[in-house]
Amino acid sequence: ETKVYEIDPKAIDEAQLEASAQVLRSGGTVAFPTETVYGLGANALDEKAVKKIFEAKGRPSDNPLIVHISKLNELDALVEEIPPNAKKVMERFWPGPITIILKRTDKIPDVITAGLDTVAIRMPSHPIANKLIEMAGVPVAAPSANLSGKPSPTKAEHVIHDLKGKVDVIISGGNCDVGLESTVVDMTGNIPMILRPGGVTKEHLEEIFEKVEVDKAIEEGNQALTPKSPGMKYTHYSPQAEVIILEGDMESVVKAIHKLQEEKEAQGLRVGIMCTDETKKLYKNGVVISMGSRKDLATIANHLFAVLRQFDAAGVDIIYAEGVEQKLLGHAVMNRMIKAAGYHVVKVGR
Ligand code: TXA
Ligand code: MG
Repeated sequence: ETKVYEIDPKAIDEAQLEASAQVLRSGGTVAFPTETVYGLGANALDEKAVKKIFEAKGRPSDNPLIVHISKLNELDALVEEIPPNAKKVMERFWPGPITIILKRTDKIPDVITAGLDTVAIRMPSHPIANKLIEMAGVPVAAPSANLSGKPSPTKAEHVIHDLKGKVDVIISGGNCDVGLESTVVDMTGNIPMILRPGGVTKEHLEEIFEKVEVDKAIEEGNQALTPKSPGMKYTHYSPQAEVIILEGDMESVVKAIHKLQEEKEAQGLRVGIMCTDETKKLYKNGVVISMGSRKDLATIANHLFAVLRQFDAAGVDIIYAEGVEQKLLGHAVMNRMIKAAGYHVVKVGR
């Protein structure tokens, strides 16, 4: 049976949080909000506890987990060394939405790293996440708190939908800020390499590094390459309906969606349209949901996963999604959208 605690991040009820921390210490599982998405946590140093995470999510065992900490001094037990460049990332962006890959120690159970000689570490900034980890007194392994393959949860109701009955505690603590999972950056080499785009963008990293690389396997059109981050090879974030992305100038995209919609509706299918505030009024029929404003990509990042789930709830057969510009946060947004679409992207117009 799953306990659900409502905790206000602005006025944290320490007794409920302490009860959750106790569950972590004694080998149980706790879902909790972070600034990116909700995570499903367990004591990272307890192999049996970590295995419960994989079971609850139905997660493949070759996909390693992120270890979450609340203080820098926890790193000593977890990583072999902190290269100077890794330190720079921590100083600038922690606590916050970036995960750093470093050489692991042998204190970390293999089930976390899926046998790799590196480990992913993140210090979240969300007050509930931060305080929970601190109270637990152990590093907390946590993937996103969704069923494997589903969009990551950005609201407590998503976690309850996917995991109620499968985990010990769910902390309901409001909506997540960023709405997309953390940036994963490999800092084991000289040049930072982004393995998963996220809230901390390439441009942000370029403020402190002359050169920043991006794993070629995660760029559009390169799905034949094997990503360096094992989790990136799965098509994920998928709603039940088929998703197709239309990319191009806005006028051509809207026109193409109108035409495709007409064809599908003539076949008796229910069409969903994932659009933006700027285009919403141009669509008359079907289930039309805006992701947010093109003028503020953070709003699109924030709503994307919830919108995918809304289409599931509406029971549409096919979703046409407008692409967004691949700059700044747009990289992370398009990366998730393209995966939700199983790489089905159609280019139109200019
Ligand atoms: O924002 C987030 O990162 C959320 C919250 C809960 O912190 N967590 C999250 O975890 O998204 P998860 O498990 O859904 O994604 C972790 C990603 C996967 O793509 C995994 O393959 C990669 O990190 N990863 C973990 N350890 C790695 C390693 N040693 N080397 C390369 N990639 C690694
Ligand atoms: Mg995930």
